[in-house]
Amino acid sequence: MLKIILLVGVFCINNNVLAQAHQNLSMPSAKFSKGDNKQWASPEFNDSQWKNISTTANWESQSYNSYDGFAWCRIHVTIPSSLKQKSFLKDSLRIFLGKIDDASEVFLNGELVVKSGSFPSDAGGYVSAYYQPVEFHVSANAAFLHWDKDNIISIRVYDGGGNGGMYGPMPFINMMDLIDAVTMETDEDPFLFLNNNKVSKSISIDNHSDKEIDGSLSVRAVQQSTGKELYQKKQAVRLASFASQKIGASFISGEAVTLFYTFTESKTKKTIEKKNVVPYILTSKESSEPKINGAKVFGVRPGSPFLFRIPATGESPKIFSIKDLPDGLSVDENTGIITGTLKNRGEYKMEFIVKNKSGEAKRDFTIKVGDLLALTPPMGWNSWNCWGLSVSDAKVKSSVDALIDKGLINHGWTYINIDDGWEAAQRSPSGEIIPNEKFPDMKAFTDYLHGKGLKAGIYSSPGDQTCGGYLGSLHHEMQDATSYANWGIDYLKYDLCSYEKELSKNPTLEEYQRPYKLMEKALRSQPRDIVYSLCEYGLKDVWKWGHEVDGNLWRTTGDINDSWESLYGIGFRQDVPAPYAKPGRWNDPDMLTIGKVGWGEHLHETHLTPDEQYTHISLWSLLSAPLLLGCDLSRLDDFTLNLITNDEVIAIDQDPLGKAAHKAFVNKDYQVWVKDLEDGSKAIGIFNVSDHYSSIKINLATVSGSGKSFDVRDLWRQKDLGVFNSEFTTNVQSHGVTFIKIKMR
Ligand code: GAL
Repeated sequence: MLKIILLVGVFCINNNVLAQAHQNLSMPSAKFSKGDNKQWASPEFNDSQWKNISTTANWESQSYNSYDGFAWCRIHVTIPSSLKQKSFLKDSLRIFLGKIDDASEVFLNGELVVKSGSFPSDAGGYVSAYYQPVEFHVSANAAFLHWDKDNIISIRVYDGGGNGGMYGPMPFINMMDLIDAVTMETDEDPFLFLNNNKVSKSISIDNHSDKEIDGSLSVRAVQQSTGKELYQKKQAVRLASFASQKIGASFISGEAVTLFYTFTESKTKKTIEKKNVVPYILTSKESSEPKINGAKVFGVRPGSPFLFRIPATGESPKIFSIKDLPDGLSVDENTGIITGTLKNRGEYKMEFIVKNKSGEAKRDFTIKVGDLLALTPPMGWNSWNCWGLSVSDAKVKSSVDALIDKGLINHGWTYINIDDGWEAAQRSPSGEIIPNEKFPDMKAFTDYLHGKGLKAGIYSSPGDQTCGGYLGSLHHEMQDATSYANWGIDYLKYDLCSYEKELSKNPTLEEYQRPYKLMEKALRSQPRDIVYSLCEYGLKDVWKWGHEVDGNLWRTTGDINDSWESLYGIGFRQDVPAPYAKPGRWNDPDMLTIGKVGWGEHLHETHLTPDEQYTHISLWSLLSAPLLLGCDLSRLDDFTLNLITNDEVIAIDQDPLGKAAHKAFVNKDYQVWVKDLEDGSKAIGIFNVSDHYSSIKINLATVSGSGKSFDVRDLWRQKDLGVFNSEFTTNVQSHGVTFIKIKMR
C-alpha cells in the first residue's frame, strides 16, 4: 500500500512566511478541459488535444470567462531522482498545488491522493474548500510514483461560483527534509521597548522530530526607507530531538524596520525564513499630572439610570469633584464614577475637576437629557474579532480586567460587548432567552462592569438564528429587550443574519426596516438606555435611514479582517456614508483589528503592519467611527497599548461636533482626509496608500478650504510642528499616515 503521510495541508501562508528554500521543481502549467469524466484521472488518457493553462491564475482570466462547474487540469511532470539524492532524509515527496478553487480531487498517476471539500453529487452535498492550499506527501518508494519518468497529476475541480481553477503560489514538488521538522515562532513574544529607541525581541526555534538538528540562525534588522542594516547577528543553533530554543535580539530601532530571520539546517543547507516588521512607538509616556480625557458630552434619557466614569490619567490617588453637578447625580470622589438619574430634559453644563499630588485638571462637560444616546462614538471592546464563537464569561473578564489594569479605562474605553456565542440552545419554557453555560450569570457580569464604571453590550439577530447559528430574537423582540434591560445591558448589536430568509426576493426598504423598527420599539420601552447598533452590512444605504429606526450606529460594510486589503477596501470607501455621521448617528466601518486577534480559539498577532495600524486608528478617528477593540487585552503589548491611549488621537474621534472626515485629495499613491472639529481647527490624515516610502507635499489651504497660515501639530507625536504657510511636506511610510491638527492663524 502506498504511504501517504499527510493528505491536505491546510496551512497558513501569511506574509510573515517568506519561503521554504528547498530545491523546488516548479509546475507552471497544465492541460485543461471543461467538463467531467472519470477517465481523465488515468495516466493513459491522451490529453494532447487539451489547451494549456497557467496553474497560477484562475480560469476566468484565461479565456474561460464566467465558467462555473466541473473542469480538469492535468500536469505532466518528470521527477528527477537527483531531487531524492540531494535530500538528506530521502523518504517522502511533497507535492504542493497552490490554491484550488473550489472542491477538488487530486490523482497521482491514477491514484486518488487528496480530496478537499465535496462535490454536489457527494452524499453530503457541495462543501466549498476554496481557501485551502492543497499539499500532499507521498512516500518516495510508492509503487505508483515514476522517478525520472512522466507522472500525471490530474486535478478534478468543481467551482460553484466566482473564480475557479488553480491559482495562488506556484505549484511545486520537492523532498521533505530535516528542515521540515523545524519551525520558527516569531509572533508569540511581543517586542519590548527599552530606553533610547532600543527594542528587544525573542523568537523560538522548534524541532518537531526525533532527530538532532544543527544549524545557524541569522537575524538582520533593515530600515525599509534607507535600506540601512541596523543589526546583524549569526549564531549556531543545536536542537536536540523535540527541543525548542529561544533566541533574543536587541538593537536601536526606528520607523519601518524589518527584522529578517533565516535558519539554515547544516546538513542540507536548506533554509526557512521569517520576518517581523518592528513596531515603533511615537507617543511619549503619560505624565504623572492629572488630565481628563474622552468624551466631553453625554446623552441620557429622562429618568434612565445614569452612569459615566470620568476618564482621567495621572498618578493615583486622584480626587474627583464636579462643579455645577445637577441635582439627581452624585460623583464618587475616589473613582470619578457619576451615578443617579436626571428627570428633566435639557442641557446641563458642569466642570470636572481632578486633583492628585502633582496638580489639578479641569474640563467642561455637558449632559444632554433627551432622546438621543451615544453623542460621541462608542468606545470599548467586543469579543468577536478576538474569540469569535469561543467567547466565554471568563475570556471576557480577562479583557475587562486588563482594560482596567492597563489604564485603558482612563482614556474613555467603556463598552464591553459580548458578540455572538452567548445564547443557550433553547429558550425557557416561557420563551425567555437564556445565556449558555459559558455565561453563568449575566446580571452578576453587568453589575461587575457597572461597579467599575464600565458598560455592557450584547448581540442578537432579528432572524430566528444569529450568524453563528445561535438563537435569534425573531418573534421574541419585546421579551428579549426586557431580559437585556433586567440584566443591565447598555448596548445591543442587532445583526441581520438569518432574517434575510424572511425577506422577499427583491426586498423593499420597508422590509429591511421592519425588524429594526420592532426592536427599536422594544428597546426604547425599557427603563434604561440601550445603545442600538444596527448590523446589516450597509444594505439599502443604511446610513440614510438608520436614524428612522433610532439606530445609534450602523455597520456600513461586510466584516473586516486584519489584512491591508480589507482595511483599505473598507476604510478608504467611507467617504460615501461620511456626510450622514452626526452625534448619536454613527457610521460603523467595523471593529478594530489590532493586537492579538483570531475570530476563534487560536489568536495570532494582527497581520497589519505597524504603519497600517497607525492608519487604522487615525482613519477610524477621522471618520468618527465607533472604536471597538477586538483583541485579547490580557495580552496587550506596549505598541498596541500606545496606539489606543493617545488622547489627542482619541479626541479627534470623540470630537463633540461629530462630523466625519471627507476625502479632500486622492491620487493613486496618497489620500488626504480632513475633519472639521468643534473648536474650528481641522484634523488631517495624509495617508500613503502606495507600497513605497514617500515624501508627500500638500497645500493646507486647499485641502482645508481656506486660510493662509496655520499652526500644525503632530497628533501621534503630540508635538507642535510650527507655523506653515500653506505648503506642508511630510515623509510617510508605505501604508502609513501623518496625522496632524491644524488651526488657522
Ligand atoms: C457577522 C457580523 C460580525 C459578527 C458575526 C457573529 O454577521 O458582521 O461582526 O457579529 O456575525 O456571528
